[in-house]
Amino acid sequence: VTAVLWDELHTDARHRLRYPSEHVVRFLAGLRPGGNGLDVGCGMGRHLRLLEEQGFVAHGVDASLEAVAFCRDLAPVGGVCRASMTALPYPAGLFDVAVAYGVFYYGSRWDGERAVSELWRVLRPGGSAFVCVRSDRDWRVHGVQEGEPEHGMELHFMSEGDVVLAYRDFGSVRFELAETTTRGRARTNSDWLVTVTK
Ligand SMILES: C[S@@+](CC[C@H](N)C(=O)[O-])C[C@H]1O[C@@H](n2cnc3c(N)ncnc32)[C@H](O)[C@@H]1O
Repeated sequence: VTAVLWDELHTDARHRLRYPSEHVVRFLAGLRPGGNGLDVGCGMGRHLRLLEEQGFVAHGVDASLEAVAFCRDLAPVGGVCRASMTALPYPAGLFDVAVAYGVFYYGSRWDGERAVSELWRVLRPGGSAFVCVRSDRDWRVHGVQEGEPEHGMELHFMSEGDVVLAYRDFGSVRFELAETTTRGRARTNSDWLVTVTK
């Protein structure tokens, strides 16, 4: 269901994010360039382009056909696959770096856990990843109304303890909370910014 709803959102240019997240820019700038980079849930490819600019061979995966078709036109050297974050179509240890920005909270808690274990599997030892997921302080915890972009999608939200537990297999884990408000501070967008090294 989520992939089909995302197909619809991706066809609407209003939802198309063109510029990379500043957090991802900073994360990649701190790494030694070179090797394979993966964008899990690559959407319209803004971080695929950034991975390439930063000197990585960019690979993308997304559940949405629209996203995959759009990103294939960007022709990242590593290619783009239609697949789920819960079953990544890559061998263990292929990637030096991975990004999953605004993706792992779609679906059930189990999907999120599975996505983290797939991330761990496809990273090489010493490889790093940046993940942005919604915290349980986010306004959407109370439900997304009809007419809002994520209405009808299954979402789950993470507490601080959930983050610690989910990433426990990584050698190093750092995370921060990023919050912004909208609608005259009536709504708080709240994200965990998680940086891990295997
Ligand atoms: C909020 S968009 C973020 C896109 C991109 N990461 C970015 O930062 O621009 C979420 C993306 O996750 C994808 N997605 C949702 N569930 C997924 C899943 N189970 N496996 C892979 N991709 C998924 C959607 O199709 C959509 O492209």
